[in-house]
Order: sequence, then C-alpha cells, then structure tokens
Amino acid sequence: MKPLNEESDKKKIIVEKYNSTSSFYDDRYRKIQNEKFELHFQNTNFNCKTLLDAGCGTGLLFEYISSLNSNNLGRTLRYIGIDISWKMLKHFYNKTKKIKNKVNTNLILGDIENLPFREDKFNLIFSITSLQNLHDLKKGLKEIIRVGKEKTALKLSILRKHLKLEEVITYLNSHTINLRTENLEEVEDVLIQGSLNKKNIIEENI
Ligand SMILES: C[S@@+](CC[C@H](N)C(=O)[O-])C[C@H]1O[C@@H](n2cnc3c(N)ncnc32)[C@H](O)[C@@H]1O
Repeated sequence: MKPLNEESDKKKIIVEKYNSTSSFYDDRYRKIQNEKFELHFQNTNFNCKTLLDAGCGTGLLFEYISSLNSNNLGRTLRYIGIDISWKMLKHFYNKTKKIKNKVNTNLILGDIENLPFREDKFNLIFSITSLQNLHDLKKGLKEIIRVGKEKTALKLSILRKHLKLEEVITYLNSHTINLRTENLEEVEDVLIQGSLNKKNIIEENI
C-alpha cells in the first residue's frame, strides 16, 4: 500500500491546479475536448440513461450533450457529475443555470477513487481526460466498475503521457466485453470503450 501522506499530498496538488485554472479552462480546452467527445459519441444512446461523468470538470461534456439535437434528452437523461475541484464544479453549476432545455443534473464534490455511490447505479459512464490524475488508477477503475450496472457502456479517455496502457487493458479486459482502444497520434488521449461484464468479478485485493 502507498503511504497515505503521499496520496493526500498528490490530491491537494491536483485540487490546487484545477482550482487555479478553472476560470480559463473552457477557453483553452473546449475545442480539443469537443474533438474527443465526437469520437466517443458515435452510436451513443442517451435514452433512459443515468450517466456518470467521472472528473466532470467545468461540464464541457454536459454542454456538448445539451447541444445535441435531441428533443426529449431533458426527460430521459439523468446526469451526475463528480469532481475533486470545487472551483471546476462551480463553473459547471453556472453552466447548468444558463443552458436551456435542461438535462436533470446533480453535481458532487468527490473523489473517483472513493465514489460516494452504491453498486450498480449507472448505465452510462464517461471519464474524459481525468483518470491520469489519479493516485491509483486501478483503484479508480475498480470504483467505476463497481458503480456501473451490468452491460453499462464505458467511455474512457486517458492522457497518453505516462499511461501504462497494457496494465489498464489487462485489467479492463477481465471486467468488460467488446473492449476497444483507439490510440490516434493526433489525439493526446487514448480512447477506451467497452461494456461492463460484472458476472465474473471475484473479490480482488488491490
Ligand atoms: C483535464 S480535466 C477534464 C475535465 C472534463 N472531463 C473535460 O473533459 O473537460 C481533469 C478533471 O479531473 C478532475 N480530477 C482529478 N482527480 C480527480 C479525482 N481523484 N476525483 C475526481 N475528479 C478528479 C480535475 O479536478 C479536473 O476537473
């Protein structure tokens, strides 16, 4: 087990970093994030979904989904965003006030490595450019899998830099079906998609 101080120190640095960049995050990253969303949205069904956006930031994904031309999105989609930076969440909150045709949204200040949800809660899970920040990536993935229902569509995008891709793929392979990875040179993230397969999960000690 890694020392607790090392973990909380790293988290404090991450919170400070995103708190201090939150005011210009959208201007700097909207275009590049939208490109990733487009890659992920092909064939995504938002009907009757309880969506988790893990590391939701300022809500660029929410903004993007809200702009999609789908009339009854507001009635059929429940959107839950969780982030460790309260300032990023504040920007997200302000966005929910402005966007018309609102999707039912809940925002939570919390940690992907210790998700404050019961098992089997979500049936669509996104985490875009957030998981590379975790102290223990496998712990975060385990949490994401725990709160997802059987067959939940998992749509992850992780910054390629320093990513131990083989490890991630090996871990996810035993918890998903139809796992697909896209490692495109022109995109800074590796895109990973699959459907949760929780039947074979045995208790793991990580
Ligand atoms: C690069 S931003 C991406 C934000 C958003 N997903 C997007 O596509 O614009 C990374 C986000 O992950 C959040 N984050 C980092 N570590 C986290 C953790 N352990 N739990 C929850 N959120 C975390 C940061 O606060 C930040 O908002």
